[in-house]
Amino acid sequence: MRNFLSQFEAIVFDLYGTLVDLSALPRLFPSYPPEFFSYWRTKQLEHTFLRTLVNNYRDFWQVTAETLEIASATFSLGLSAADRDVLLQAWLRLPVFAEVPEALLGLARNHSLAILSNGTLQMIKDVLEANHIIHYFQNLISADSVQRYKPAREVYALAPSALLTTPNRILFCSANGFDLAGAAHFGFVTCWVNRSGLEPTQLDMLGLTPDISVHGLDELLK
Ligand code: LAC
Repeated sequence: MRNFLSQFEAIVFDLYGTLVDLSALPRLFPSYPPEFFSYWRTKQLEHTFLRTLVNNYRDFWQVTAETLEIASATFSLGLSAADRDVLLQAWLRLPVFAEVPEALLGLARNHSLAILSNGTLQMIKDVLEANHIIHYFQNLISADSVQRYKPAREVYALAPSALLTTPNRILFCSANGFDLAGAAHFGFVTCWVNRSGLEPTQLDMLGLTPDISVHGLDELLK
């Protein structure tokens, strides 16, 4: 894998689900039904797709708050303003997957590392700072600067401009199928971080396949 990596100038990572472990949410809030959190995440992503399609952008913090309302109503949770605030603030402090800090240390030796996320710049910064890994990244790139969401091409186009390189010199790592689809259609070499042990046939890549697959970022260093 190390030889494979030598063709790339930069490694670009998706954030939520890829580096940041969203399955921590039900563990942090055991009094809520676990399905509430997966529903919230599904609605959050659905709204990013919808808002991009109808051309009505609101930033990812607002989308996360709006879809919390929907999820809370669906599960009849009757949340207070304080409950909602605590749930939202959790997004700024969620943990990264266990292997991430050491893997980034290794990868940063020979590559520029960057984040390309739907999250606002503030959300990206806060969660990386909370996990003490912000210093590994040369660039933090937010979809907010084009006011559209993944998998829109404009979002992926931000990375080669920021990193001053071509798409084929970027390895793009994501756990999210729709994100890999957008990245591959744009022209990045793609790495599927298969966090949930899916079969390749379960991946939403619109007929494309990831160039490589790993279960965690540590496998990139082997
Ligand atoms: C992100 C979403 C896709 O970080 O998880 O961009």
